[in-house]
Parts: sequence; structure tokens; C-alpha cells
Amino acid sequence: MTTTRPLQFIRRGKPVTLHDVPPDRTLLDLLREDLHQTGTKEGCGEGDCGACTVVLGERGTGADGRPAMTYRAINSCIRLAHSIDGMALWTVEDIARDPLIQPLDPEAGSTPASASACLHPAQEAMVACHGSQCGFCTPGFVMSLFGMYQNRVLQGQDISRAVAQEDLSGNLCRCTGYRPIFDAARRMQDLPRVGVDEPALLARLEQLAALRTPPAADAGYQAPATLAALLQARADRPQAQVVAGCTDVGLWITKQHRRFADVLDLTRAAELRRIDTLGGDILRIGAAVTLQEAYAALCGTRPQLHGFAARFAGLPVRNSGTLGGNVANGSPIGDSMPLLIALDARVVLASVRGERSLPLEALYTGYRQNVIAADEIVAFIDIPPVTEGEFLRAYKVSKRQDDDISAVCLAVRLVEREGTVVQASIGAGGVAATPARATRAEAALVGQPWIAAAADAAGRALQAQFQPISDMRASGDYRRVLLANLLRRFWKESQGDGGASLATLRIVEVTA
Ligand SMILES: Cc1cc2nc3c(=O)[nH]c(=O)nc-3n(C[C@H](O)[C@H](O)[C@H](O)COP(=O)(O)OP(=O)(O)OC[C@H]3O[C@@H](n4cnc5c(N)ncnc54)[C@H](O)[C@@H]3O)c2cc1C
Ligand code: FES
Ligand code: FES
Repeated sequence: MTTTRPLQFIRRGKPVTLHDVPPDRTLLDLLREDLHQTGTKEGCGEGDCGACTVVLGERGTGADGRPAMTYRAINSCIRLAHSIDGMALWTVEDIARDPLIQPLDPEAGSTPASASACLHPAQEAMVACHGSQCGFCTPGFVMSLFGMYQNRVLQGQDISRAVAQEDLSGNLCRCTGYRPIFDAARRMQDLPRVGVDEPALLARLEQLAALRTPPAADAGYQAPATLAALLQARADRPQAQVVAGCTDVGLWITKQHRRFADVLDLTRAAELRRIDTLGGDILRIGAAVTLQEAYAALCGTRPQLHGFAARFAGLPVRNSGTLGGNVANGSPIGDSMPLLIALDARVVLASVRGERSLPLEALYTGYRQNVIAADEIVAFIDIPPVTEGEFLRAYKVSKRQDDDISAVCLAVRLVEREGTVVQASIGAGGVAATPARATRAEAALVGQPWIAAAADAAGRALQAQFQPISDMRASGDYRRVLLANLLRRFWKESQGDGGASLATLRIVEVTA
């Protein structure tokens, strides 16, 4: 089953129609090999370096409820080409040539970013700040800057160095060094403004959508627009490869050279892209909500999670990857699951047979094994609200600060009343074959006075429950020491010692 319907998107203000694009063609291969647009570079082919960054524009809804554009910088190397159907695409070749990118203040001396040689502020700032040496990473940085320009500069947000660092954490440069690039991020806000003519682009995207016909029943790439249609397709085609943001599946294509002739994309099902508040203030996050949006919603009520969220991959991965994909993939070193366990989240599985809800940790039965049936999908993740007296922290320990996978991830949520622990929820990653609930440490805490000795006892219980393995990220012994030390750090932070660092903490003795 390899037939597909034509792939259509808007580029430089015009519709592009491509026929016979295989279901598992990556966007980067489409650009470089099929369209011979080689400005976008391939470095790692696995979402790590950002050389392949492009920006996608999609019709969304603004704060006022009106149609509005959303802009996302993503890694084209691990994104399926068909996933951009019906969207607008910009590559580094486009942003100075798109007739829909116009000066916002013609009096300020900027000329239209047209076919003439004028640069977009993201490019001009890179030139002015000497942000490029060999130039291989530059197209990716420029496109991340373009995303930042649309989402921050034009929204009146200041680009501080910290913001620049956070938004560029998915882009690697091996020769220039980051200071000039961060300078460029700040400089572009001082240049005469240009912006996408959104009404015109929205109209063109609507025209494109109006012309679309549903794919044939045997088309190799299906992206149903409703949950009901998605569940029917899942039941009818249990052999199809389910994909969401493709930030895991993309690597199976680029690194393991696997081929998928039959793909079921669940990111177009409207219900799965919503964030709702249910009765009892339960936050319901649709499985196809991007990681960036899902963590923004979590940080809305628990702002202390911002630092943890920003360390999940880099922005382009968070802009494609979904919370549901992280949960369904169920990697033992995935970051969302320990946090969701600590939040006592429940996962809702859906199929044509109906829905069932289970505690998140009950999803996993073994290394990358779970209870999701062949006709089911992860549909929603339900997260209880903040409890009075709650203290929550999530810790990620990895070799690099940015864009790295956890060696150990520990999330601890404790509710204290009058000095006694009345609730403890602890999720752990990197220490077992699955993401796990630290039941022994929880039991060691509940009913105890919240004092340092209780934290130490919980640390010992953590060490007793988990026997982490040694691998390239960390030794088993190191992981065990970390478990207890992170609990100690949690204790210190709960006492107002926000500056507690691992270096200042007592090393808990490793027992055989
Ligand atoms: C450079 C890089 C850095 C990364 N860093 C991190 C990190 O710091 N922390 C971390 O935890 N992960 C990290 N990841 C892994 C990845 O980004 C996450 O696991 C992501 O959440 C996967 O979501 P996705 O939507 O891209 O899933 P996909 O790749 O589309 O799918 C992953 C798996 O889940 C299945 N699936 C997806 N959605 C559903 C659903 N709703 N129901 C049933 N099955 C489904 C798919 O069939 C597939 O088996 C990183 C990946 C890359 C490439
Ligand atoms: S080529 Fe490195 S992230 Fe895509
Ligand atoms: S300029 Fe050479 S890698 Fe960045």
C-alpha cells in the first residue's frame, strides 16, 4: 500500500502540489533530493543538530477566538513530508523571497522582502553579529531565529539571552561559538520589522483546504480529521504504523532504514489536539498536543516546572513531538512519565470499542511493552490540579545541560499538613525497564514528619526498590547514589534552600 494523495502546501505564497510522495518520505529528503532545495542542511539526521530546521505555519485560533497562524521551527530530517499537508512551509531559501513577508513599518526604511536581495532580519542580524563561520549550521539557526521572530519579536516579547539560549537549544554550532548567535537573536529585534501577511496567508490556506479531497481508502498515508475516523482507521488497519510528531519514529527511518508503506498520522484528529479543563479542575491534554504546548499548560499551574520542560530535547523536537507519543513510546529514560506519575496522571486509551482510563504507570508491563491493544491509541492524559500544601519538583540528570537524554529523572510531589506528610507521589526514570512509581519511598514518607531523616529514609527506600543498570549514560552505582541525593535535594528545596546543588549535598553511601 504505497499510493498517496497529492501532497499540497504553501511556499513563498504559492501552492505546491507533489504527486506520488511515499508515505515514509522525510521532509528533508523531499526538499533536498526531490525539490533540489539544498539550502536546508543534513547534519545528524536524528533531530540532534538543528541543521535541517525549517518553519511550518498552520491555521490555528488566536486568543480572541479568531483564525490565526501558528509558527513552529521543526527538524525536517525526522518529520514525514506528508505531515505538512495543508500547511505553509519556509526554508532558509524562502524568508527573503516570500512575497507574503512584508515590511510592517515602510517608513522605517525597510524594503519588502521580495525577490530582490534584501535579507530577513534573522539573516541580517546573523551577518551583523558575525554569527556564521563555516556556515553549515547557519540555515538551521536562521530558521530557528525566524520562528523566534514570528513568535516573540512580533508579539512584543523581549529576547533576553536566556530566551535566546532556550529557543536555540536544538541548534548546534561547532565553529562560531554561541555568543555571536545569541547576540544576533537580540539584534534582530532592533531592525526594521517585517511580518507575514497573515490574512492573505490564511486565505490561501483556506483555499487549499477547500480543494482537498479525502484520501482514497487504500492510500498509504492517512491523517483522519476526527477521533472517530481515526479510531475506525486504527481498527481497520492494525498493521499501519501510528505516528504523531515522528520524533521517535523518524529515527527508525533515518537510522534503522525501516520503511513504512502504511502510515496512520493521528495529529490531525481535532479532539487530540485540544487542552481542556474537566470537572474537578482536571487538566486534559490531548495525545497529539505538542510537547511545547503540553508543558506550557502544565507550567500554567505549576511554574516551577519551566526549567525541567526547557530541558526536554530542543525546541524543534518539542514543537513536533507530542505528549501522547512520549507516553506511548514508553522509553524507560523518557522525561514526561516520571513527572506524570508524580502528578498522579491517568491515561485514557480509546478504540472503537470505547475508552478506558488507567493510572499512567499501569500502562507499562516491561521494557517498551504496554497494555495498549492493537486497535487502541493513547487519546488523553488527565492531570489532577495542584493540591493545597503540595511541593513538587522534577529533576533531570544528564551529561549535557541542553538537548540530552536523562541518565536519571526523578519527580517528587509531596503534600504536607502540619508538618506531616499526607501524600507522596514519586516517579522515576532511568532506573528500571519502564518508567516507574517509587512505591517504597512513597510508603516510607506518608504519615512521617517531614524532616531530613524522613527524606533520607525515602532515599534508602528508592535505592532498595530500583537496581539500575550501567550503560553509556551512567553506571548503575551512580544512578543509585543520584536517587538518594535527589531526594535529599528535594528536602533542602522544600526548606527554602532553592540553591541546593548536587555538589553541596551529602553523598549517600552506596550499598552492595
Ligand atoms: C533529538 C531528540 C531529543 C530527544 N530528547 C528527549 C528528551 O529529552 N526526553 C524524552 O523523554 N524524549 C526525548 N526524545 C524522544 C521523543 O522526542 C519523545 O519520545 C516524543 O515525545 C515522541 O513523541 P512523537 O509524537 O514524536 O512520537 P512518534 O515518534 O510519532 O511515535 C513514537 C511511538 O509512539 C507511538 N504513538 C505515538 N502517539 C501515539 C498515541 N497517541 N497512541 C498510541 N501510540 C502512539 C508511535 O506508534 C510510535 O511507536 C528526543 C528525541 C530526539 C529526536
Ligand atoms: S540533520 Fe541534525 S537535526 Fe536534522
Ligand atoms: S558556523 Fe560552522 S558549525 Fe556553525
